Amino acid sequence: MQIQIESQPYAALDTDALVTYVFEKDDKFEGVLGEIDRGMNGRLASLAASGEITGKALETLLLHFPEGLAAKKLLLVGAGKPGKFQVSDLRKIAGTALRQLKSRGAKKITFLTREGENGEAAAQAVVEGLIVADFESNKYQSEKKQREVQTVGLAGFDPSADLHSAIQEGRIVAESMNFARDMINEPSNKLTPRILASRAEAMAKEAGLAIEILDERKIAELKMGALIGVAQGSIEPPRVILLRYTPDNAKPAGPVLGLVGKAVTFDTGGISIKPANNMEKMKYDMGGGATMIGAMRAIAALKPSVPVIAVIPATENMPGGRAQKPGDVQTAMSGKTIEVINTDAEGRLILADGVFYARKLGATHLIDAATLTGAIEVALSNVHVGAFGVPREYLDTFLESAKAQGEKMWPMPMDDEYQQMIKSDIADIRNTGSGKGGGASTGAWFIKEFAEDTPWIHLDIASTCWADEGRPWLAKGPTGIAIRSIVDFAMKMK
Ligand code: BES
Ligand code: MN
Ligand code: ZN
Repeated sequence: MQIQIESQPYAALDTDALVTYVFEKDDKFEGVLGEIDRGMNGRLASLAASGEITGKALETLLLHFPEGLAAKKLLLVGAGKPGKFQVSDLRKIAGTALRQLKSRGAKKITFLTREGENGEAAAQAVVEGLIVADFESNKYQSEKKQREVQTVGLAGFDPSADLHSAIQEGRIVAESMNFARDMINEPSNKLTPRILASRAEAMAKEAGLAIEILDERKIAELKMGALIGVAQGSIEPPRVILLRYTPDNAKPAGPVLGLVGKAVTFDTGGISIKPANNMEKMKYDMGGGATMIGAMRAIAALKPSVPVIAVIPATENMPGGRAQKPGDVQTAMSGKTIEVINTDAEGRLILADGVFYARKLGATHLIDAATLTGAIEVALSNVHVGAFGVPREYLDTFLESAKAQGEKMWPMPMDDEYQQMIKSDIADIRNTGSGKGGGASTGAWFIKEFAEDTPWIHLDIASTCWADEGRPWLAKGPTGIAIRSIVDFAMKMK
């Protein structure tokens, strides 16, 4: 998809569809919308009066052969209440327009922005919305729909803004999200830990990141007992993927951001096996790892001022003759001993070694992302990412990035009572809670036992990393959630 800045007046643009947006109620058709309305002899105003145009968020109206415009169609997308509107809403508006017009066979479309939103941030949001909306999960279908929007023009933007870099940056972020989404989509027979590692390697070479892949021998040498315990049930060997971004003038004793992502390429539950229903979805259980690999791709291009390392422990979780069993005790790389009560609580086990290793490599600040618990869906549905973190100020700074990026995340409790629930009778800790609820918080506390006093954030993306249903601006399947927030946070870190 080519994206270009239009310099001609929008009314004269030869395009399959001109897209713009309309606010709820108090929209008086001012500015460009007023111009368009006058060109159509007040047709928009009368459609609003009759209730055809409401401006409700993402409601759309398509008008053919609009008078006064060279465009073949005019698509109006609802923007909701003007008081609630944020620049990041432009993503959903642009995405909704793209998906709707693509399905109708449009080849060239033009996005006309409005007076309040014509700077760099707006242009970047539109570009991100378009490219993310364009993603399709049809890789293994023999007959692909031929529909493709080839060109999108951006009109109405401020010519004195740096629109070229805004487009460039939007493209980097969105393509990194799609890169992660493509990996999350892959079935587990097409994406083993080794294949995930080679995909990360190819990306790193292209993006200019340093990469190291630890194989099962190196993992054993490092005594990553928690990861090994999970991996031993599978004939596929585990990997630890290590990506490194180093800025040109890093401060010698400055902060180092450590990103740790859970990459279970398939989670059967192990000996504590999962029920058959919906088990196929567990190919997505490497979503946290893909999130961090995608974030590193964007970080390599956007070049924050702090060094960033990513540690992605990758394994299958399988039952089998050599699989670990409930009650087994494993010794993590940190030396802590873990009683494995439930082999299906495997994500926290591999993160224990991932988080500890990231600290050993010099990370002073940590973020982990994981499809960790079903409990987070009970708490937050598919609406918010569960965000845990200590100290609270560190988490709050991150939540500001999430807000700015329009990614919904909700702070979750880390009180000491949850720590009590993972005490073991025979080892230092156990890998599940007491069975009295709070499953997302006990899971988080387990990871924190290995982050210790390093500032740490844990993102439970189990219910937000995959959309079971499509949305107007997004295909069903992997969402790419959290990448934008993590990249934004890294860019603002000093
Ligand atoms: N990958 C799953 C989390 C998950 C479960 C995602 C259900 C989506 C739906 C994770 O490894 C897991 O199995 N967690 C268990 C933990 C429990 C055994 C303490 C869970 O949440 O059921
Ligand atoms: Mn599991
Ligand atoms: Zn899992």
